[in-house]
Order: sequence, then C-alpha cells, then structure tokens
Amino acid sequence: MSLLLNRNEFGNPNNIGKLLSRKDAMQLFHDWVLNPKLQVHMLQVAHLMKCWAAEKEGLDETGQWKWELAGLLHDADWDQWPELHCKKIIEHLESLEIDPDVMHAIASHGPNHFGVDPVNKMDKMLFAFDELSGLIHAYSILRPGGYEGMDLKGVKKRLKEKSFAANVSREEIQDAANRAGIELDELISYIISRQAKVTE
Ligand SMILES: [Fe+2]
Ligand SMILES: [Fe+2]
Repeated sequence: MSLLLNRNEFGNPNNIGKLLSRKDAMQLFHDWVLNPKLQVHMLQVAHLMKCWAAEKEGLDETGQWKWELAGLLHDADWDQWPELHCKKIIEHLESLEIDPDVMHAIASHGPNHFGVDPVNKMDKMLFAFDELSGLIHAYSILRPGGYEGMDLKGVKKRLKEKSFAANVSREEIQDAANRAGIELDELISYIISRQAKVTE
C-alpha cells in the first residue's frame, strides 16, 4: 500500500491566513476520528504545536492556532480511511479553501510515507513531535505514576529498548530532530513537560 502523495504543492496561495474556526475543526475531528486513543494522540500533538508556536516561535494567537490546527488534524483520516491517510484530509481541507501551510505541514508529517519533505518550521516541528509524542505517551501508560516524575533518562532508556513501541522507528525520530535542528534531549524534555496536561 503506497501512501505517496506524488505532489509538493497543496492548496491555493490565495487562501493564506484562512483557517477553520475552532468549532468547525473540532466538529471535523469528532466526525472523522472515532478511536479514543487516536483522539488523545492528535490532541497531544496539537497541544505541543500550540505551546511551541507560542513559547519558542513567539507567534500571535492566529499563528498559534494555525500550528495547533495542523497538529489537531494531521491524522484525521487515519482512523476510518487508513489507505487514504494524508490524501483524504488534504483534499478535504483544499475543498474548504484553507491556508496551504496547514496542508503542507500535514503532508510532510511522514516524509518516508508520503514523499513530502518538511520545509518550514511548522512542518518540521509536526514531524519532530509526532512519533516521539506517541512513544512518550506509551511510556507514561506503563508507569505507575503516568507522567509524574518521568524524566529524560527513562525515555532514553525506552528509546534504546528495541522491543518497546517496536513499530516506532528510532531512525525517524532522530531524523526528525535533525531536520528541526533541535537536540533530541531537548525535544524529549519539552514533550514530557507539556504533554502531561493532555491525557484525557
Ligand atoms: Fe500519520
Ligand atoms: Fe500522528
């Protein structure tokens, strides 16, 4: 099954700045994503994107929402249409005439799967957060205290353990951090500290 998108241009540049309202985005999220575990993953990535946009990029509220929106919808089609993963949500957002940056970030959240490289910072952070966030959350579920007292060392130990979250590619995690130009340790610590708040 190939998920290659076979293109690098998404949406229409005339739509720059056009975003979904939070209400419409949540409606789409709940209509498309029925699996509660996947919902948690998408909410966590959305939260990380928003926090990073605010704290590290210094973006205003609209900018923060744009990053959050990309995180919130990046796996929207994975639950019900896995064979159309990425393609379906991008085409849907194109039909809604949404800012092309949001589609590009979604399209590049798995360069090895979709064949689209992350270009700007928003793309790169989505790629960097995606798999690592999932691995850290899987670790939290195994710990008696969840995120409480979780540290960098523990996560790095799990990363080295091939049998833990075996389907998560360690090479991809490192590649994503390299592309974002952020030390893996910093990225892990950031995720631990921010993600604890989104565990519903
Ligand atoms: Fe995905
Ligand atoms: Fe994801």
